[in-house]
Amino acid sequence: MNPVAERITPSITTMIRMDHSQVLAVFHRYKPDVLPAKKRALITNACLSIEIHAQLEEEIFYPALREVLTGDEVLEKSEPEHEQMRTLIGELRGLMGRDGPTDEAACDEKFFALMRLVMHHVADEETRLLPAAERLLRDQLGRLGIEMTKRRLELMKPHAAEFAESTVRSFPAGAAAGAALLTAGAVAVGAMLFARNTKRTSENRMSRWRH
Ligand SMILES: [Fe+2]
Ligand SMILES: [Fe+2]
Repeated sequence: MNPVAERITPSITTMIRMDHSQVLAVFHRYKPDVLPAKKRALITNACLSIEIHAQLEEEIFYPALREVLTGDEVLEKSEPEHEQMRTLIGELRGLMGRDGPTDEAACDEKFFALMRLVMHHVADEETRLLPAAERLLRDQLGRLGIEMTKRRLELMKPHAAEFAESTVRSFPAGAAAGAALLTAGAVAVGAMLFARNTKRTSENRMSRWRH
């Protein structure tokens, strides 16, 4: 593993909390009286973040937790709740025109329903699943964090421009520029770090062949 990537990658539970905070920050900016174009940006940003986060949890976090935690009702209802989120996200996208929602009242109602679901789900994860992982998977949290970062880079890559643009439109100038740069930067730096790692691994393989 690339030692630089290993040092700067947060543990999986820290990363999950950071994702939750980012989505909640987007939710807090959504109000019925914001301009339609801003609603579109906030919804785009939140939906993309939730989809990527849910997929990362399903591929990496929940399977690791299932190995050490059985019969937990919160863990068992996590994926069905992600499915409910995906359904609402699909419906929200169906209500979205180029310049904003085609039916603002319906869109508000749907987005507030998504907010309620996500906030309840996040509270369950932060009070039950993350503390359980920190107790039961203590020596794996770093490795799982690296695995999640690598997978996030793959999932984010096709959406990096859309995510950066919707972040710029969602937040005040300073914060948005920082967040957008962070997103673009994270994808670029992450790709570079892990690419260097891949290169080194193949170089090692080559040198083993030569000796
Ligand atoms: Fe989740
Ligand atoms: Fe989560």
